[in-house]
Amino acid sequence: MESILQRRKSLQKDLSDRKSQIIKLRAQSAQAQALANLGLISSMIAHEMNNILTHLGTYAELAINNPDDTQLARKVMKKTAANSARASNILKSMLAMANGEKQEKKYYNLKDLIDEIFTCIARDPGKDKINLNINIPENMTVYCEGICLQQVLMNLILNGREAMLKRGGTLSIRAQKLDRHVQIEVSDTGCGIEKENLSKIFEPFYTTKDEKDITKRNGAGLGLAFCKKVIDAHNGTISVESKPARETNFRIKLPDDVR
Ligand SMILES: Nc1ncnc2c1ncn2[C@@H]1O[C@H](COP(=O)(O)OP(=O)(O)OP(=O)(O)O)[C@@H](O)[C@H]1O
Ligand SMILES: [Mg+2]
Repeated sequence: MESILQRRKSLQKDLSDRKSQIIKLRAQSAQAQALANLGLISSMIAHEMNNILTHLGTYAELAINNPDDTQLARKVMKKTAANSARASNILKSMLAMANGEKQEKKYYNLKDLIDEIFTCIARDPGKDKINLNINIPENMTVYCEGICLQQVLMNLILNGREAMLKRGGTLSIRAQKLDRHVQIEVSDTGCGIEKENLSKIFEPFYTTKDEKDITKRNGAGLGLAFCKKVIDAHNGTISVESKPARETNFRIKLPDDVR
């Protein structure tokens, strides 16, 4: 009888030890997750800074090579000032995202946000035989963290551009209000994505771009992972449809019933 009681006691102790072990492991795993998250966010910050600085650098070089063009120099300085503010805002909001903080969102005019992106990209799409087809209602507003949504759209635009390099094509940006959502679509008539790869493209570090391909650069595979993280943080969705060798369409839906 006694031995059954003893056995029961030792089993109970065993159980309680294991429970505290599980709690400890859970805490360790949460910590590891937070660190992994921070690592990913740092890579993404570096990625977005690179998106901004690459274009700015090219533009500044153009001004250096044309020292008599004072108008160009003024433009470059304006862009530098605007993009420095932009870069610092991205840093702030991404670090806030890494710490799980809620970020400030407000209503922005979508057309203004998109116009600013093209000012930042600087390169004339026509030089790459790319037609722009932008169809955004004048007064359309979108409830978001402006800088982050701009970076998302910039990533989609840059991907679309790269998908059409050499052959050219059309890059379209459309938006409409749906029931309780704003829908924004970015499409290109580029190389498209094979069906079996569609599910991988939002994964961090998935890329098909290396120096041997047409883009002549190594992709980080972080652009779309960044887009997904930002859109998730806005309680929205981002999805893709593609016909290989024909076209790709990214669709973002952001909630609009937040008032
Ligand atoms: N518009 C598109 N057309 C064709 N393929 C695309 C398009 N957008 C994304 N992809 C595919 O998805 C992959 C991941 O895109 P993502 O933007 O995350 O990374 P990346 O462009 O390769 O590198 P980077 O981190 O520098 O943006 C790309 O390498 C490409 O294979
Ligand atoms: Mg990309």
